[in-house]
Amino acid sequence: MSFETRISIENLNLFYGEFHALKNVCLQVPKNNVTALIGPSGCGKSTLLRCINRMNDLIDGVRMEGRIVIDEQNILTPGTDVVALRKNVGMVFQRPNVFDQSILNNLKFGLRIHRQMRSKNETKDLIQKCLEDVGLWDVLKDQLRKNARELSLEQQQRLCIARVLLLKPEIILLDEPCSALDPIATLHIEELLRVLRERYTMVIVTHNMQQAARASDYTGFMYMGQLVEFGVTREIFTAPRQELTENYITGHFG
Ligand SMILES: Nc1ncnc2c1ncn2[C@@H]1O[C@H](COP(=O)(O)OP(=O)(O)OP(=O)(O)O)[C@@H](O)[C@H]1O
Ligand SMILES: [Mg+2]
Repeated sequence: MSFETRISIENLNLFYGEFHALKNVCLQVPKNNVTALIGPSGCGKSTLLRCINRMNDLIDGVRMEGRIVIDEQNILTPGTDVVALRKNVGMVFQRPNVFDQSILNNLKFGLRIHRQMRSKNETKDLIQKCLEDVGLWDVLKDQLRKNARELSLEQQQRLCIARVLLLKPEIILLDEPCSALDPIATLHIEELLRVLRERYTMVIVTHNMQQAARASDYTGFMYMGQLVEFGVTREIFTAPRQELTENYITGHFG
């Protein structure tokens, strides 16, 4: 395995009150690749993902130890500019969280809260570019004032990805981004991820092992708060080194 590290997770422990949810996790996330996190329900995938943009801060009673280094900075330190971090590390959720507003307003919203408003023309160009990047421009360019809730779920999820891209992040976290979508829409989103990985470092949590195998370059298998194994996706799925990983991918539990 040789790659350039984009995110370095070092001896990360996380506690929800007394509950030890992440146990000494060490993971080097490769730059401009898709890394999948897999493992049975409750093993800590979402918790780990949320550490990378400090989303767990929003939960009462959370305590973290260890380091997560991005651009030579440990983002877990109290001095971290969390707003800037979340702009650089975008997040896409399970259910497309579009607002009950026009497509345009959905896109401008992120720019507004991050004070990234530019001149009208610049904003227009940026919106066009991001919609092109997610394959929505040709279909939607004449309906930008339509309510985003009227779009198909796949289009809504693409819109959510476009909204993240608008802020020019370098890292994108996706927590089961296809779990609300049908199989065809799922394949479309996976194709999109393959295109985007040229420019972004992506970490995707998925329950769907076929999805991890198809859409990711690297895979980490988690079990009960630990990262059991990490490696090139093809190797994890064909020749895992740990028995636990093998049991999971062959469907013996989870
Ligand atoms: N806010 C919270 N407070 C207390 N415990 C929590 C909280 N969020 C998660 N947990 C616990 O931490 C563990 C890891 O949860 P997490 O949601 O990260 O798992 P997951 O691998 O994403 O599971 P799933 O596949 O079901 O989404 C679970 O035991 C869960 O019950
Ligand atoms: Mg989860």
